[in-house]
Amino acid sequence: MSKAYDDLMTAFAGESRANRKYTAFAKQADAEGFPQVARLFRAAAEGEAVHAAAHFKAANEIKTTKENLEAAIEGEHYEVVEMYPPMIADAQEEKYAAATKSFTRAWNVEKVHEALYKAALDTLGTQTEVYDYWVCPHCGFVQAKNAPDKCPVCGHPGSDFFKVV
Ligand SMILES: [Fe+2]
Ligand SMILES: [Fe+2]
Repeated sequence: MSKAYDDLMTAFAGESRANRKYTAFAKQADAEGFPQVARLFRAAAEGEAVHAAAHFKAANEIKTTKENLEAAIEGEHYEVVEMYPPMIADAQEEKYAAATKSFTRAWNVEKVHEALYKAALDTLGTQTEVYDYWVCPHCGFVQAKNAPDKCPVCGHPGSDFFKVV
């Protein structure tokens, strides 16, 4: 690949990170009673999202949905098999409880994401039913069609799940 391609992917990662960071900062600004600063963080976050999307598109990383599902499965699989296990081990070694908890939750949820993507790939073109997904706001667990009574990964109440259409 080219230097420009590598730079696009580096910039994509940085802008994506800025989007999430500013979104978290906005929530904190709201909690501290600074609604205008919260709005600025949210507006800048949207701007970074525009940049991230443009870089990703310019890098030609958006393919057909079949290829995109394959890429998503590969990414989730990498997180489950290669990325999180050593991170969990490092966090346990350091007795960094919050990191251990955060990594372990994500690790368990990525397995579910991978399975959902695999099912979607297996039925691509033959699956005709359209339904909603429900997401746990605490750990990111995803369930099709309806929310569970409580999250099977983190135990969060299902009534807090949000619907994604
Ligand atoms: Fe995931
Ligand atoms: Fe959860």
